[in-house]
Amino acid sequence: MQTVVIKGPSTLKGQIKISGSKNASLPIIISTLLAKDQCLIHNVPNLRDTRFLISILRDLGCDLDFQKNTLFIRSSAITKKSADYEYVRQMRASIVILGPAISRYKKFKIALPGGCSIGTRGIDLHLNALKLMGVKISIKNGYVIAERKKNNLNSIDHKFPKISVGATQNILMAASLANGKSTLKNCAIEPEVIDLINFLNKCGALIKVKNRTITVRGVEELKLQDYKVIPDRIEAGSYILATMATKGRLKLNNFNPKDLALPLKVYKEMGLKIKKLSNSSYEIYCKKLKSIKKISTKEFPGYPTDLQAQLIATQLKSGLNSKVVENIFENRFIHIPELRRFGANLSIKGKTVTIDKTSDLLGAEVMATDIRASFSLIIAAMMSKGKTVINRIYHLDRGYEDFDLKLKKCGVNIIRKK
Ligand code: EPZ
Repeated sequence: MQTVVIKGPSTLKGQIKISGSKNASLPIIISTLLAKDQCLIHNVPNLRDTRFLISILRDLGCDLDFQKNTLFIRSSAITKKSADYEYVRQMRASIVILGPAISRYKKFKIALPGGCSIGTRGIDLHLNALKLMGVKISIKNGYVIAERKKNNLNSIDHKFPKISVGATQNILMAASLANGKSTLKNCAIEPEVIDLINFLNKCGALIKVKNRTITVRGVEELKLQDYKVIPDRIEAGSYILATMATKGRLKLNNFNPKDLALPLKVYKEMGLKIKKLSNSSYEIYCKKLKSIKKISTKEFPGYPTDLQAQLIATQLKSGLNSKVVENIFENRFIHIPELRRFGANLSIKGKTVTIDKTSDLLGAEVMATDIRASFSLIIAAMMSKGKTVINRIYHLDRGYEDFDLKLKKCGVNIIRKK
């Protein structure tokens, strides 16, 4: 099992190129199953998750070639109509394959994703909407078996009972080839959802977004077009918090602050300074870090759950009595016991974490647990005196392209150990 060793304290100084968005790349790549030709997807991050999705689509019979962040994909015909457990259990996002696959083929089987460290993460919102579209869903031997009789799915007028990124993406893709016009309400509108919609509309889909309502007018077929994925706003937010935590100075390239509007507003209240250098590059620094009393995670455009853990770590030394409330996932505090190993004084009451005491932090041996939360361990290690060993860094490799190389280039004493 690979680990990284970080010697702290260290300050982030230099420049980082933000990679393409993992959570936009995954659904965009999957959506090519809706068509029968080929295209190039640019700015795809070379991550464990993107490489994994490529292996799933190859297993289905797609032709793919991934070179230097550009993915060639030809999904002319799926030869295999099932996504197996060995794949799905390792990447929950693969459930979003179901919508496109069942709107193109009359039968498709996909393994139930199973549990996840940050919460139950059901798929009821996905399956209930597909049933309304005329898909017969049965669950057998740990698989979802989807079948449809008619030539096309029905369009639907549907209000999601709960806002879900994946369910929104799954259903809007299925609706793209359905009969007639679908109106989906209470949708997720994260930038990654909008990027998927922009890609599909470039391929000939007819999708409109107004507030949380998405209308999709089904078309006969889509024609794949080349596309460039948006930058990863969560990666950017993670490096910004690391810069604030270590009072560093960073030049961020390939960054779009519009996708992080609310977090940047919070970080500016905490002392972040940001200067525009060009269309996609910004200089950020923080001389004096102030605490923020309370932040609650919300669906976009609220404060993202994917930056919750990193915010807690950043405040460990300056945020006495600061609170962070996690409203999206029911168990996204598994990084707290790991942060305590650095000497942090944190308490959890229901959905709320409180920094009870600020103190000096000392390096420790810790365990990465979930993609984004594991970056909080990197931030804590950079704030700590002494050596930190982070185990199970495959969690970080799932979401942060070349994180060790990017940090090393910015002055962090970090070594990856096989
Ligand atoms: C996406 O997950 C992201 N993943 C997550 O990022 C992100 O944390 C999450 O959205 C919230 O923003 C990808 O885009 C690949 P949801 P998703 O459906 O779609 C519940 C990362 O690190 N729910 O919006 O799975 C669910 O349990 C990951 O890149 C149901 O109850 O999230 C959760 O509590 C971590 N039933 C809430 O909704 C359902 O059918 C939001 O989940 C679906 C979801």
